[in-house]
Amino acid sequence: MQSFQEEDYTKRFDLSLWKKLLRLAKPYHRNLWMVVVFMTVSAIIDVALPMMNSYAIDNYIAGHSMAGIGWFVAGYIALVTIQVFNILGFLKQCGYVECGVCYTIRRLGFQKLQELPFSYYDRMPVGYLMSRLTNDTQRLGDTIGWSIVDLCWGAVFLVACSVQMFILNWRLTLVVLLVFPPLAVISWKFQKGILQAYRQVRKRNSQITAGFNEGIMGAKTTKTLVREEMNIEEFTQVAGEMRRSSVKAATLSALFLPIVVSLGSLATAYALWKGGYEVLGGVMTLGVLQVFINYTVQFFQPVRDIARIFAELQSAQAAAERVITLLETEPDIVDSPEVVARFGDNFHPKKENWPALVGDIDFKDVTFHYKDGEQVLSHFNLHVEHGQTIALVGETGSGKSTIVNLICRFYEPTEGSILIDGADYRTRSQLWLQSNLGYVLQSPQLFSGTVAENIRYGRPDATDEEVRAAARMVGAEPFILAMGKGYDEPVGEGGNRLSTGQKQLISFARAILTNPAIFVLDEATSSVDTETEQLIQRAIQTVLDGRTSFIIAHRLSTIRSADRILVIQNGKITEEGTHRQLTARQGYYYQLYTNQFQEEQGLDILDGKVAAAKA
Ligand SMILES: Nc1ncnc2c1ncn2[C@@H]1O[C@H](COP(=O)(O)OP(=O)(O)O)[C@@H](O)[C@H]1O
Ligand SMILES: [Mg+2]
Repeated sequence: MQSFQEEDYTKRFDLSLWKKLLRLAKPYHRNLWMVVVFMTVSAIIDVALPMMNSYAIDNYIAGHSMAGIGWFVAGYIALVTIQVFNILGFLKQCGYVECGVCYTIRRLGFQKLQELPFSYYDRMPVGYLMSRLTNDTQRLGDTIGWSIVDLCWGAVFLVACSVQMFILNWRLTLVVLLVFPPLAVISWKFQKGILQAYRQVRKRNSQITAGFNEGIMGAKTTKTLVREEMNIEEFTQVAGEMRRSSVKAATLSALFLPIVVSLGSLATAYALWKGGYEVLGGVMTLGVLQVFINYTVQFFQPVRDIARIFAELQSAQAAAERVITLLETEPDIVDSPEVVARFGDNFHPKKENWPALVGDIDFKDVTFHYKDGEQVLSHFNLHVEHGQTIALVGETGSGKSTIVNLICRFYEPTEGSILIDGADYRTRSQLWLQSNLGYVLQSPQLFSGTVAENIRYGRPDATDEEVRAAARMVGAEPFILAMGKGYDEPVGEGGNRLSTGQKQLISFARAILTNPAIFVLDEATSSVDTETEQLIQRAIQTVLDGRTSFIIAHRLSTIRSADRILVIQNGKITEEGTHRQLTARQGYYYQLYTNQFQEEQGLDILDGKVAAAKA
């Protein structure tokens, strides 16, 4: 029941973080200023309207006169009309800012994710990144778009209201304002507590959802491993914690409002009591008392709002921190400024300066580790002539994938260098190398869209005929044409409407279409059936011709025809040669070969039997 944990926000308000965010919102600064203007005018009108009422009470009602009522009504209507437009205006601008900020952050975030190298995705779980670009971003859009409304209105209203109250009756105002400090403190504490409790609820909730998900998806495994009781215990614990947090949030909310209302009422009651005497004594008019009471009642709303917003800002800070960290992540593999100047970057390549890639590859004394202290390769040397097919064999974890990942520059050597066509590949751009690279993985990744769109993925300008030629070359055409719409058949999300073998053939065609000089097959045939493997097998012969290629495979039938076979053990080449040379040596490869050969023979016999039984 492990799931992505939201960090708790223990940090104090971090102004520099919000400044960075406001800088991100730069395209919307004009809109934010408009909101400030709308809210300022709105707050002033909110202070002015009770004054109008007070004027009406004293002059028209108490004064029993209708003189100038026309002007008064006109003024009143004008104020209300302005207020209506204010509301329209700020709603529109805030919505605009909210969507705009989300859009900007998502665009920058997505661009960053495209730039970041492989190693970043080793460290970051997918769920974590998803929640940064969805929930966190939405949260920030909300906060930036809407908190300014309440903050601005509240601040202007508080100031304008206090000034008016002082002018009306400064002694009474001083007493009424005595409740301000305790109210501010109480509001702040409660709002923070409530938000914290809600946050706990959300956190547990996501754990519970993950629990449901795993509980349902993994039902079979659970049953076979007799984990039911343990799972229920774990689940009950998390659900119990969620209940406790929910009750806490509800209790705090329930306590908060009565306390604030009581404090506010105390102030109002005091004003009414003292003010009442002053009216009776003729010191104060009824209209003034009315407006004073009105202000006293309204005064505490913005205090509550501002406390809530600060609490919200503090909790949105965690989201801000996560988003900013993502946007500021520096990729560990970068092209130097000189390289970018000459060959361009990922988004603006200068292809006219790119040298043609021939395909000679050299490892010069390469040392590499993923994590400090866990050396995978040390002082590794290898020379590969262009056009050669190199097969890598060895146990799981011996470093085969690492070697090809280094060639692809998904990772860079910790020490030493890798030369391509005689030049350190760090003196060329990543895009140059990767544009010349065909890479087929064990689990093929297709994207939703049609078969043709998937084959064309790496070369959107390829013609239909080229797409077909690529499919034909890898032997995928027969099954493609057998589907209802042929090349226009949708493959489903992640290609889930196709079998693994079919997906593999398509990813093969996709790799071929870009006409790469270097081809890498990392266990590309391990998860396909024997029939597909034979198809791929045949394709490999034609496809790899004239390209430098690296094949990592379990099935020796795939390896046998390679120009050179390297046996990798613990990051070192322990045997190398052709199939014939290596079997003659009777070493590790020979053992592997004989064991596997027997196995494959065994399988063939089994297949034969099954076929015979079916017939
Ligand atoms: N992304 C990674 N982060 C940390 N360690 C890794 C990573 N990939 C591989 N390793 C480690 O490097 C070693 C070699 O792995 P790998 O090259 O994938 O082996 P092979 O492909 O031969 O099975 C293993 O010990 C493995 O645990
Ligand atoms: Mg591997």
